[in-house]
Amino acid sequence: MSNTSCQIAVLISGGGSNLQSIIDHIQQGHIDASIACVISNNPNAYGLLRAKQANITTHIIEHENYATRETFDAELLKTLRVYNIKLIVLAGFMRILSPNFINEYQGKVLNIHPSLLPKYTGLHTHERALNANDAEHGCSVHFVTAELDAGPLIIQAKVNIKKSDSPESLAKRVLEKEHIIYPLTMKWFCEGRLELKASQVYFDNKPLEQAIILNSEHENELQ
Ligand code: GRF
Repeated sequence: MSNTSCQIAVLISGGGSNLQSIIDHIQQGHIDASIACVISNNPNAYGLLRAKQANITTHIIEHENYATRETFDAELLKTLRVYNIKLIVLAGFMRILSPNFINEYQGKVLNIHPSLLPKYTGLHTHERALNANDAEHGCSVHFVTAELDAGPLIIQAKVNIKKSDSPESLAKRVLEKEHIIYPLTMKWFCEGRLELKASQVYFDNKPLEQAIILNSEHENELQ
């Protein structure tokens, strides 16, 4: 893969279906980027196998081996500095990053969260949306700041909740949308269309007043 394209690091902890979707979109030429490395804090993450199958360099940094969040993050930073990383993508990465980490990569870290933020930060979002009898649910991509799931929103995708939904069936439909909005956001970022300046998101040089809602035109951008 070319070294002049947008170099990305993907941080994972688990299955890595979002990682797979990113790999696929890059391979299909939809995003002008290359994944410099995949880092997991979990040595058993299935996503590591997905990365290896795609010939992507992997690093395992087990948080349990570090006494504090700061020393774990320092190791992450040391690993990342070897590369010329333009964008860090958190894809099911189950660790909170310290302000030190965020400061070094300000405006360059994205996260995906399975809810329509600001609703349902944290875990068990699908159960919580069902228990609240919500009519709709979805997922959000945002820039990462020091506060958990609270950085400026970029894009959201909505799904209608069905009466028959279980947390699993709902999670599956939300995940399908995640696999669209994350590559799309990365494409925009790598094309220079998306920027974070002083806590404000700019899209095509205009301040983004509210999250973009995924529509079919956006989806066509990934064809
Ligand atoms: C996704 O639902 C993501 O939104 C959340 O963790 C899950 C990761 O799934 N942060 P995967 O590992 O990408 O399959």
